[in-house]
Amino acid sequence: MSSDSTLLSLQAFSAWGGREPPGGEYVSGVLKMATIAEDRLLTWRQEFPILATTTHLCSHSMGAMPRGASDWLRRYADEWNVRGEIAWGTWGSYMLEHARVVGALIDASWETIVFHANVATLASIILSAIYQPGGRSKIITTDLNFPSLTYNFSMHERLGLKVQLLRSPDGITIPIEAWREAIDDETLAVVVDHGIFRSGFVQDAAAITAMAHAKGALSIVDAYQTTGCVPYSVRAWDADVAFGGFIKWLCGGPGSAWMYVKPSLIETLEPRMVGWFSHTSPFNFELKMRFAHTAMRFATGTPNILGLYAARAGLDIILAIGVEAIRAKSLRMTQRIFDLADERGFQVNTPREPDRRGGMVCVDFPGAEKAEGKLVGRGVLIDYRPRCGIRISPHFHTTEDEIERLFVELDDIRRQGLSPEAR
Ligand SMILES: Cc1ncc(COP(=O)(O)O)c(C=O)c1O
Repeated sequence: MSSDSTLLSLQAFSAWGGREPPGGEYVSGVLKMATIAEDRLLTWRQEFPILATTTHLCSHSMGAMPRGASDWLRRYADEWNVRGEIAWGTWGSYMLEHARVVGALIDASWETIVFHANVATLASIILSAIYQPGGRSKIITTDLNFPSLTYNFSMHERLGLKVQLLRSPDGITIPIEAWREAIDDETLAVVVDHGIFRSGFVQDAAAITAMAHAKGALSIVDAYQTTGCVPYSVRAWDADVAFGGFIKWLCGGPGSAWMYVKPSLIETLEPRMVGWFSHTSPFNFELKMRFAHTAMRFATGTPNILGLYAARAGLDIILAIGVEAIRAKSLRMTQRIFDLADERGFQVNTPREPDRRGGMVCVDFPGAEKAEGKLVGRGVLIDYRPRCGIRISPHFHTTEDEIERLFVELDDIRRQGLSPEAR
């Protein structure tokens, strides 16, 4: 099942086969055939209307919207409007199909995947399943993790959970030795952000998982910042739980997030946060809970179908291109950002080794916070985070010219001064 426009673009891409790019000078006359021929991923630009008017370097925050997403949203409205309650037949099967598609991306089967509106909710549900007061009580996380999950865990400290925060020595990385030293027989779970949102540092999720397992602890991996731009396999990691969402590198907009639970673990876990969709026979409306045998036991109540529909066009594109191809291009583009930042003497807050960095580069300089608004005002989409600087993310649709443009605009903004009155 796919929207017409996504299907069309997939056909165009595979029919091209490297011979003749579809479209030619399709984006406001900016892209030359030669540029596209050098980088065939640029053929996908025509699927992202926002690229005609902005320089989009912000996929670590919110990926560009594919044109096909409008078709999926329209389809949702039509199904709701025309079919009424009967639409649930379609929507129920769609949820499983969406799980299959996500499974193809993360290397998991559909039975192991469940969806919610955001990762914070998923973290609460999984914690309600793994933490038993009186049992193992330590959760290990870091001061570079995205705080959504850490807030969740620390709220359980009043019930006896202990949260150990590993401190980054440089604000960019967490040494693997810190994990080794912290994991002990009291550890319930490690919470590993595969990609760090403040620096783009990529952690060795497989190695940390192996350390956790050696001490009988669980491994929970937040892969939000790498899914769709760094290839990985949840099975190869041997992770017990993994999360991510669609809004960033998957170009799926806000509205839904996924969670994987290792098959051998699913039926051993009984979450305290549940709802009728967690039941093996929800439509029997029994008084007693009998858990679903799949990851649906973590589903709680009525699912957010709209969020899943919104995310589908982006997912289809990422899968059609392949994360390996996206990564190869991302390494080239991020290297170019390092070079241009170094030429200007900016501080780079991202590891330079290819296997330790994701798709984002953070650069800092005096006045970076003020430069953020001015860049956005000039149509260059990036963002600023404290203790990090300006975060810059090229994706598969980015041209080299766009990277150059960011730095040219920055030069101009700095020349004019960073006062609010300066343009
Ligand atoms: C690593 C990471 N995890 C989670 C999130 C989002 O969490 P939630 O889905 O709870 O909003 C983000 C960014 O928005 C992130 O960078």
